[in-house]
Amino acid sequence: MLIDPVKIAVLVSGSGTNLQAILDAQKSGIIKNGRVCLVISNNRSAYALKRAAAAGVECAVIEKNAEFEQNIISCLDSHGIELLVLAGFMCILSRDFTTRYPDRIINVHPSLIPSFCGKGYYGLHVHEAALERGVKITGATVHFVNEIPDGGRIIAQKAVRVHVKDTPQTLQKRVMTQAEWIILPRAVEQISKELTEAKK
Ligand code: GAR
Repeated sequence: MLIDPVKIAVLVSGSGTNLQAILDAQKSGIIKNGRVCLVISNNRSAYALKRAAAAGVECAVIEKNAEFEQNIISCLDSHGIELLVLAGFMCILSRDFTTRYPDRIINVHPSLIPSFCGKGYYGLHVHEAALERGVKITGATVHFVNEIPDGGRIIAQKAVRVHVKDTPQTLQKRVMTQAEWIILPRAVEQISKELTEAKK
């Protein structure tokens, strides 16, 4: 029986390097059980939208307002989306939203959860906090998303060394190149494969 690849939406807010890693992994065959069909951004000037357009992926800008989550749901429904990937999506989703997609929303976070995670820990702030605390090892985590920020079941983690001369920027770059861009596409394939198996 031939089964269509799992329909994936990637939610973004900024530069979209993790989205790029997913698109590249799709091209190189690392991701074969899923296909990115839609990119949603809450920020109309996100560079991620340019990356999506360059790859020929449909984009939607949904700005934060009172109907924010309902508008996202309508957009996902109209595209038949089966798996949501939060890749640098800087919005917290409500319980009503997350319970609608149990085990079907994943997120990449730039630390080894449970360190430096939860409300207020996003983007460069995570690396600032890690340097301030003086940790010698940090990394990235891919996890399922529930109503607790960064609180869902862990899917994958990868450790990265902190260097003495690191700035938040140099550390962020190393965590991305050595961890996020590797574990996120692998996790997308793993979950897509599991969802495909479940359809058989
Ligand atoms: C990434 O480091 C991602 O892990 C982080 O923001 C960056 C987005 O970069 N996400 C969070 O902090 C979410 N809590 P990108 O737009 O280039 O993928």
